[in-house]
Amino acid sequence: MRRPIIAGNWKMNKTVSEAVDFVRQLKALVANVREIDIVIAPTFTALQAVSREIEGSNIELAAQDVFWEASGAFTGEISPIMLKDVGCRYVIIGHSERRQYFGETNESVHKKIKASFTLGLHPIICVGEALEEWETGKTFDVIKIQIIQCLEGFSREEMERITLAYEPIWAIGTGKTATPQQAEEVHAFIREQLEGITHRQVSQGVRIQYGGSVNSDNISDLMAQPNIDGALVGGASLKADSFSRIVKYSKM
Ligand code: 13P
Repeated sequence: MRRPIIAGNWKMNKTVSEAVDFVRQLKALVANVREIDIVIAPTFTALQAVSREIEGSNIELAAQDVFWEASGAFTGEISPIMLKDVGCRYVIIGHSERRQYFGETNESVHKKIKASFTLGLHPIICVGEALEEWETGKTFDVIKIQIIQCLEGFSREEMERITLAYEPIWAIGTGKTATPQQAEEVHAFIREQLEGITHRQVSQGVRIQYGGSVNSDNISDLMAQPNIDGALVGGASLKADSFSRIVKYSKM
């Protein structure tokens, strides 16, 4: 049985005081949720303040990216040590926006995952196809290459730490979601691919989130699918009430 994981990716939104306000509201709204891992991924500048605010609560912290070196002359980058230092448990790696605008490749994603493991962080690794690839039936080919190139060579113990997020690029911020059935088909395919590179038991335990225009109206149908184990939420995670409704989907 995989424990559901719902994460809010704030992207480039919220000042420190806005982030702290949000967390105060969210803590109260989800205080009774026990059966789901709740994660928020603020910007780097808000991590420390949010970390203090969620201490002792059922909310966990993620960063939106990481660099693969521990320290040194890498202007503008943040290392896994620094993320661990401010209290991050998770780190999102390979988001399509990083791939699209900042030159992230499967190779750099692999390096970042490896570096995260050395510090005991839990990577949330994003995969997904572009609109044209979806329309021309290339989804499975693209995902297969992403999975193999991002994840090959990791040990069983390392693979047990990962979460995957399937985010079709055409569904991000567009209001278009894959139907639960379409998403399930890709999630099942992802699990099959995982089985090819790790032990079956490990692949059965890996949580696979869906991301792309998730909201409180569509979350229940998505979560009802056997291979959808959570959500990576963008826009609808920016308000505490809408994010809490997603987190509490099973009670709605
Ligand atoms: P939206 O929920 O705004 O479509 O964003 C999804 C996403 O990219 C989460 O990482």
